[in-house]
Amino acid sequence: MMIDSAFILAAYLLGSISFGIVISKLFGLPDPRTVGSGNPGATNVLRSGKKLAALLTLLGDAAKGWLAVFIAQRWGFDADMICLVALAVFIGHLYPVYYGFKGGKGVATALGVLLAFSGWLGLAVLLTWALVFAIWRYSSLAALVAASMAPLYAWYLLPSESYVWTALVLALLLIWRHRSNISKLLAGTEAGFGKK
Ligand code: G3P
Repeated sequence: MMIDSAFILAAYLLGSISFGIVISKLFGLPDPRTVGSGNPGATNVLRSGKKLAALLTLLGDAAKGWLAVFIAQRWGFDADMICLVALAVFIGHLYPVYYGFKGGKGVATALGVLLAFSGWLGLAVLLTWALVFAIWRYSSLAALVAASMAPLYAWYLLPSESYVWTALVLALLLIWRHRSNISKLLAGTEAGFGKK
């Protein structure tokens, strides 16, 4: 019980590290919370024009989700406990203790978690994101569609019901965190990346 709680707490603390904020600082860029959409995520870091900083943000935020789940799996926890660790790292990203509980929207961290659940699941979600982005050029829309598909993919690909429910909770939280993006998409004012 002590070990379980310690794991969940450690996953939350790991998830609370915002790579968007850390990497921007390292690159001498403005704090992503103060520019663009105000979201400390890879998309908003990309708006600074520094592609490498955005890529490292994406990789860092995804890696922490992947790592927490991977360690829990290797430790030998059952599926329910692995899912709790997955939710803890994700919630850490959304509501980080180090930044006044104001975090990101969870796209990269969810991807990392889903990749650790199953490489095929992660790949399916990533390809969905890429397809939607290639057509409409909105990062938020791509994330919303990919996250919405994740529980369906998980249901098809994974044997454990816990993973499917977790993918659903991740998707619902991610959609909730994209409320402002959804309003802007509907109003036609969302900041996209233009047609190629
Ligand atoms: O990475 C989050 C993305 O889906 C939306 O980001 O900055 O356009 O609100 P942003």
